[in-house]
Amino acid sequence: MAEVKVPFYGHVKQYLNHKEDFDKAIHDVLMSGVYTLGPQGKALEAELSEYMGMKHSIGLNSGTDALWFVMLALGLKAGDEIITTSNTFFATAEAAWLIGVTPVFVEIDPKTRNIDVTKIEEKITPKTKMLVPVHLYGQPADMPAIAKIAKKHKLYVIEDSAQAFGAAGDGWKLGDYSDAVCTSFITAKNLGCWGDGGAVFTNRDDIVEPILRMRNHGSVERSKHRPGWNSRLDEIHAAVLRVKLRHIDEYNDARIARANDYDEFLAGVKNVTLPYRTPGYRHIFHLYVVEGEKRDSLQEFLKERGIIALTNYPIAIHEQEGFPFGLGDPKPVLPLTEKHSASVLSLPIYPELTRADAKFVADAVMEWDKLQG
Ligand SMILES: Cc1ncc(COP(=O)(O)O)c(C=O)c1O
Repeated sequence: MAEVKVPFYGHVKQYLNHKEDFDKAIHDVLMSGVYTLGPQGKALEAELSEYMGMKHSIGLNSGTDALWFVMLALGLKAGDEIITTSNTFFATAEAAWLIGVTPVFVEIDPKTRNIDVTKIEEKITPKTKMLVPVHLYGQPADMPAIAKIAKKHKLYVIEDSAQAFGAAGDGWKLGDYSDAVCTSFITAKNLGCWGDGGAVFTNRDDIVEPILRMRNHGSVERSKHRPGWNSRLDEIHAAVLRVKLRHIDEYNDARIARANDYDEFLAGVKNVTLPYRTPGYRHIFHLYVVEGEKRDSLQEFLKERGIIALTNYPIAIHEQEGFPFGLGDPKPVLPLTEKHSASVLSLPIYPELTRADAKFVADAVMEWDKLQG
């Protein structure tokens, strides 16, 4: 394999860029003697609430737990249905599946690749309890339209914002049109710790205690328990996230700048299409995803030049072998989603990627493009 010249992630560079701050934050936690549910987690939650402009933030172990706990807190139970997209990371549906709730998949919008809001209503049944839009690749779904449908049919809405921390709509922000926003802090995310983490943001007072109970063995008072779970965001990760939160807008701006560079350098490319941006939205480019029928050939070509490009997501959820189709029979028919998953390729994008790196990647894509004729 060729020497890697442009990796897919910039984690180590990000660490080195703020090394003193990260080292101090981690060292201070180690010296404090408190490693879970301590002052760092509390301070992070307050800072996250301020950033999000929302009343409550609850730090957890993962984005999957965030989705799962909100569904539980809003009373979803086995036999209910949620409506979501199959063009997402598996966890969006997995959270529902964990409590016996059936994820019902709606086709994607041909431009944004997010849930097609015009096709939601035809999937609503008496069992539908919740809409779960995903802000895929960092671009918000059409929340005002989704909220309108939810209001009409009396459904909950929760946003899977794992890929969209810091994104916004045109004149609205995440959380304005939903019961809760769920995010992931796994390292690769725009706001990621050095391991696993996640959070729920909500303006609803009534779901806070159930979520707090789920994260700490059903306990909100020492030694008193109900059945719950263990999903504590630990203090080291909270301290790391506090450092990164100070830079999140700058990180996202750098991603947007690199996406603009790719658009510029790839203008005129014939064998892939470039990502669409909803006018007025702040798409924060968690991923820069191009699409083309010869995706595998491009991925291989880039690899030979030391450029790592990955596929997000090459198998849509409804096509996963492990998916319990018994819950969702008949198998959904989602031709656009299937075509999309067969043609996606994510070019490297992260705050530490330089314009020169983007040029190097784009030049290779253009070279491949010419060879295709
Ligand atoms: C869209 C989406 N939803 C949910 C998750 C689950 O988050 P986690 O891996 O922190 O459980 C992820 C990321 O992993 C994701 O990208």
